[in-house]
Amino acid sequence: MLRPSVLRLLKRTGASRLSLLEDFGPRYYGSGSLSARDDASDGRAYFTTPIFYVNAAPHIGHLYSALLADALCRHRRLRSPSTAATRFSTGTDEHGLKIQQAAATAGLAPTELCDRVSEQFQQLFQEAGISCTDFIRTTEARHRMAVQQFWGVLKSRGLLYKGLYEGWYCASDECFLPEAKVTWQPGPSGDSFPVSLESGHPVSWTKEENYIFRLSQFREPLQRWLRGNPQAITPEPFHHVVLQWLDEELPDLSVSRRSSHLHWGIPVPGDDSQTIYVWLDALVNYLTVIGYPNAEFKSWWPATSHIIGKDILKFHAIYWPAFLLGAGMSPPQRIYVHSHWTVCGQKMSKSLGNVVDPRTCLNRYTVDGFRYFLLRQGVPNWDCDYYDEKVVKLLNSELADALGGLLNRCTAKRINPSETYPAFCTNCFPSEPGLVGPSVRAQAEDYALVSAVATLPKQVADHYDNFQIYKALEAVSSCVRQTNGFVQRHAPWKLNWESPVDAPWLGTVLHVALECLRVFGTLLQPVTPSLADKLLSRLGVSASERSLGELYFLPRFYGHPCPFEGRRLGPETGVLFPKLDQSRTWVVKAHRT
Ligand code: MSP
Repeated sequence: MLRPSVLRLLKRTGASRLSLLEDFGPRYYGSGSLSARDDASDGRAYFTTPIFYVNAAPHIGHLYSALLADALCRHRRLRSPSTAATRFSTGTDEHGLKIQQAAATAGLAPTELCDRVSEQFQQLFQEAGISCTDFIRTTEARHRMAVQQFWGVLKSRGLLYKGLYEGWYCASDECFLPEAKVTWQPGPSGDSFPVSLESGHPVSWTKEENYIFRLSQFREPLQRWLRGNPQAITPEPFHHVVLQWLDEELPDLSVSRRSSHLHWGIPVPGDDSQTIYVWLDALVNYLTVIGYPNAEFKSWWPATSHIIGKDILKFHAIYWPAFLLGAGMSPPQRIYVHSHWTVCGQKMSKSLGNVVDPRTCLNRYTVDGFRYFLLRQGVPNWDCDYYDEKVVKLLNSELADALGGLLNRCTAKRINPSETYPAFCTNCFPSEPGLVGPSVRAQAEDYALVSAVATLPKQVADHYDNFQIYKALEAVSSCVRQTNGFVQRHAPWKLNWESPVDAPWLGTVLHVALECLRVFGTLLQPVTPSLADKLLSRLGVSASERSLGELYFLPRFYGHPCPFEGRRLGPETGVLFPKLDQSRTWVVKAHRT
C-alpha cells in the first residue's frame, strides 16, 4: 500500500497512482527502477551512429552525432546494466565517388586516405569516451560479403532490373537528384553551373546503364509502416516530413554505377562492369556489424535505434526501410534525427575555413565539459550555433559553480567535519507537509524540492525516449539550482553541530542535499561519465549502486532505511569541474588531413 503522504506528494507532482506503479515498480521510494520497455522482447537494444565519410577530418558535427548515440546507449545501460543486452556501433564509410575523388585530389591511393582518416575518427571517439562496442569500416572483407549477400537477396526477389538511368548526380552528397532539386549558380568566371538546391554542392549529368531497385513498389508499405509506428522517426516533425515525401511519387532508384566511372566500391556480384551504389553499401553496415548473413543477426534486428543527422533522413527513412522490406526484413525500430551545428551563424565547411576541430575542444574544455556542452546546447529540432564564449559561460555556470559548488558546500570539512552522510531526522522533515511542531524545520519549498528530485529520473527517461537529451540536462540543471536554493535557505554554515537543537536539522539539510547530488550524479553518467564517477565516488556510492534500478531517492523521507546514512564519504579528489578562464576564448581551426 502506498502511504497517504506519498499519494499526496504524487498529487502535487501530477503523477497518478497508476503511472507510479507502472513506471517505477513497487520498490520505488521516489525515483525508482526504470525498466527498458520498448526494446526487443528479450531486452536487447542496438544503437548505431551513421558511418562517417573519410574524405575529410572529423568535426564537431560528427562528434555530436556520435555523442547523442553514446548518451542514449549509456542511458539504456543504466536502465538495464547487463552489458550483453546492448550493442553500439559506429565506423567509417569508405567507398564511393566522393572518396575516390578526394583521394585523387590529395594524391593518395584511396586505401591510404581511408586508413588515415578512419584512424582519426577512431582516435577521436576513443578520446571522447564514445562507448561503442563495434567500429566498422566498409572496406573490410566481412562487409563486402554482407553487401553482396544482401544484393543477392534483392536480386532473387525480383527487385533489381537493368535499365538506362539518366539524371543529375551529386558526388558530394552521393545522390541522384530530380530536375526540380537542381539550380544554376554563377561561377567565378561568369559561367553558371548546376548545384543541388538543398546542399549547394555541384551536380553533374549522368546517363548510364545501371541496376535499378524497384523503390516505387514500396511507397504504400512505407506509409503503412510509418502510420502504424508513430514513434518510428523521432522527433515528430521529421516523421511528418517523411510522410509528406511519401505523398509524392517515389521513382525507382539506380543502385549501381559503371565500374569504369566508379571503381572504388564493391562490385556487383556476377557483373564486374558495375559497382554497387555507395548508399546501399553503407546502409548494410548496420547488418554487417551484427553478423549478417549468419542467423545471429536476428537476435539484434530490428531492436535497432539509428541516430542520424537530418541531411541523411531520406536514405534512412525511405531507401533503407524499403531495401529491408524488399529483403524480407523489418524496418528499424527507431530513427532518431538531429539537426546541425553551424559556426558563428555559418555552415561549417573546409572552403570557408570555419571547421571546428573537436580534439582541440576536448583538450580545451575537458572531455566531460565538451560532451556536456554539445548535449546540453544541441537541440535536435533546430540547428545550433557554436562559438567559444558560449561554452565557457555554460560550463562555468552549470558544472563549476552550480554543481561543483553544491558538492563543495555539502562535503567541505568545516560544514561536514565527520565527512559522513549524516542522518535524516523525520521530526525535522516529516513526510506530511504542513505539520507544525517545535522540531519541524522543513518549509513548503523544501517539499517542492523533494518532489522535483523524486520525479526527475522519470522525467529524464522520458526526455531520452523523445530524443530531447538537452531537456533532460535542463531538468537536472534546474534541480541543481533548486538544491542550491535549499542549502542557501537553511544556511548550514550558520548551524552548530554542538547544539542539540541545531544538530539533527543540520544533518538533515546535508542528508537531503547529498541525496539530491546522488540522483544528479547517477543521471549525469550518460553525458559526463568521468565527472559523474568523481561525484558519486566522493559521495561514497559504490559501482553497484549507480544504476537507475538502484536509485531510491531519500528513502528515509518515505519511511524506509537508507543505506548511506552514517557512511563515510569517499576521498576528497579536488574540485569537481575546474572553472574556465573567460578571457581565453579563441577561434578554433580544423586539423588538416
Ligand atoms: N556516410 C554518410 C552516412 C552513411 S550511414 C549509413 C554520411 N557521412 S557524413 O560524414 O557526411 O555525416 C555523418 C553524420 O554527421 C551525419 O549524421 C551528419 O548529419 C552529421 N553531421 C555532418 N555535419 C554536421 C553538422 N554540421 N552538425 C551536426 N551533425 C553533422 O552522411
